[in-house]
Amino acid sequence: MSSNSFQIAVIKGDGIGVDVTEATLAIVDAARERVGGFSLDYQELLAGAGYFSETGKDIAPGAEDMADKADAIFLGAIGLPAVRHDDGTEISPHLRLREMFQLYAGVRPVKAYPNAPQRLADPRAADIDMVILRESTEGLFYTAATHNRNPVANDDEVQDVLRITRATTEKLHDFGFKLAQKRKARGGKGQLTCVDKANVFRSMAFFREIFDERRANFTDVEIGYNYVDAQALDLIRRPWDFDVLVMENMFGDILSDLAGGLVGGMGMAACAEIGDAHGLFQPAHGSAPDIMGQDKANPLAAILSGALMLGYLADKSGTEAPANAAQVIEDAVQQGFTENRIRPMEFGGDMGTQAVTKEIVGLINANKAQ
Ligand SMILES: NC(=O)c1ccc[n+]([C@@H]2O[C@H](COP(=O)([O-])OP(=O)(O)OC[C@H]3O[C@@H](n4cnc5c(N)ncnc54)[C@H](O)[C@@H]3O)[C@@H](O)[C@H]2O)c1
Repeated sequence: MSSNSFQIAVIKGDGIGVDVTEATLAIVDAARERVGGFSLDYQELLAGAGYFSETGKDIAPGAEDMADKADAIFLGAIGLPAVRHDDGTEISPHLRLREMFQLYAGVRPVKAYPNAPQRLADPRAADIDMVILRESTEGLFYTAATHNRNPVANDDEVQDVLRITRATTEKLHDFGFKLAQKRKARGGKGQLTCVDKANVFRSMAFFREIFDERRANFTDVEIGYNYVDAQALDLIRRPWDFDVLVMENMFGDILSDLAGGLVGGMGMAACAEIGDAHGLFQPAHGSAPDIMGQDKANPLAAILSGALMLGYLADKSGTEAPANAAQVIEDAVQQGFTENRIRPMEFGGDMGTQAVTKEIVGLINANKAQ
């Protein structure tokens, strides 16, 4: 990577993945033009259920190598329920990428926007602004279906393993502390809460022990602890009190959907998956076959994931221009909701994928003209 020119591997995938990816690239390009100072070179990689139906392969030959060499990977959504392998599982090459590139830090921002649905009656719900940091390579997904690692799996019994390693957990907690610091520098709370079940599981006590070891290096970050069951309660009772929440894979899987539901739905659920040398950015939702081809998908989860990608490129390269472009996108989304100019069909509004995209591009360009 040169410091101002970035290669992006783009996998549009299936269903609405294609629409929301195209929307994201249009917005990212508008923001890049607005800010200037860096370029993006997109390489499209074919993968997914549609590609599998045509070719018998889940990803094009050489695509994994290209993803490996890219500065970032952007993915729409992969999978169609009707297309399966012989063993009944769905087409999911993206899970292999997560494993290959050890994308341990799953970053899932949860932010309330004005005029987007708020599921809680308390007016403080308007202040929800947190990040669920989900470890994404081990925990209770260590033996998940794709890995075939169950110690016992027969007709009488099946065991799954919850695996916590020191190496991954140190990196995960450091990532969480740095994220809290970065959010504090931008006016956020600068808090990190360790969510676990350390009262019952040795693996979770170990997770907390490592959290306590690492915190010594980040004394400016306020810390907290919550058992995962109490955290579920607090996400309904007082979600506005939290900033960054770090947790193992399965807890993060569940709580990130719960938290996403508080501020709208899947169409707002942005996601970054970050490892030591790679970053993959995608909306947390799937291919939504029930609405595909109808211009009904809310592209904001993908667009906000595009902003996360720009922030990552800035960090990775040590340059500011992509971070400024990310801010331009976040500001346009904030302004669009505040002025009720973004009204996604997902929330009962009158705007499909293209109309939402056009409005945000318009906001970015209008701000440029000022
Ligand atoms: N990372 C991924 O690529 C990923 C993630 C989840 C599911 N999938 C795959 O997607 C397919 C469908 O899965 P699913 O139905 O369980 O989940 P889904 O996220 O595709 O859809 C769930 C519900 O949310 C709605 N929805 C999702 N995204 C939306 C958006 N942007 N705007 C408006 N509404 C939206 C859908 O219409 C649907 O009613 C499956 O093949 C599954 O394996 C892929």
